[in-house]
Amino acid sequence: MRKVTVFASIFCVAAVLMVVGAAPTQAADLDPRLADPATHWVNERGSTMTLVFTCNGSQNAVCTLSGNYINNAQGFQCRGNPYPLVGVYYINTQTLSWSVAWSNAVADCGSVTGWTGYLIFSSPIQIVTNWNLAYSTGGTGRAIMQGADTFTQRPTMVYESLLKGGSE
Ligand code: BTN
Repeated sequence: MRKVTVFASIFCVAAVLMVVGAAPTQAADLDPRLADPATHWVNERGSTMTLVFTCNGSQNAVCTLSGNYINNAQGFQCRGNPYPLVGVYYINTQTLSWSVAWSNAVADCGSVTGWTGYLIFSSPIQIVTNWNLAYSTGGTGRAIMQGADTFTQRPTMVYESLLKGGSE
């Protein structure tokens, strides 16, 4: 009788451990500094972007990215007006990727850029990326240009002040 109780206890403990082990990891939370309705960024070429992190999807710890990108980089086309961006951010590894198709109502450059990188939670937060820009050279020519961009987060208050024409 006593042996039966011991075996039953071991079985119960093993069953509980199996259930706990199989359970999904606890939901990761988005850093509050990214949880503003919109976050604002500038890179070393003077380009700016707005990123919105939406983290209520079905994939645990995976957020979708939306927003827009204003290219201000010398030597490129499609400068000075916003293009929509779409992407993905993985909370657990602080890695992200987003794309812009350079086509809107103002200008169509026939090109697409994808950035992939990671966040550094310094103050201010930075995003370190490599990018690929795929474009047509005319005729049947196709090319992919590559480079790197680092983005620095701008405080929302500064961004709003700039929009209103105020100074930093
Ligand atoms: C084009 O010239 O075909 C479209 C604009 C491309 C702008 C590129 S994307 C990578 C790099 N980083 C920027 O902020 N702008 C340039």
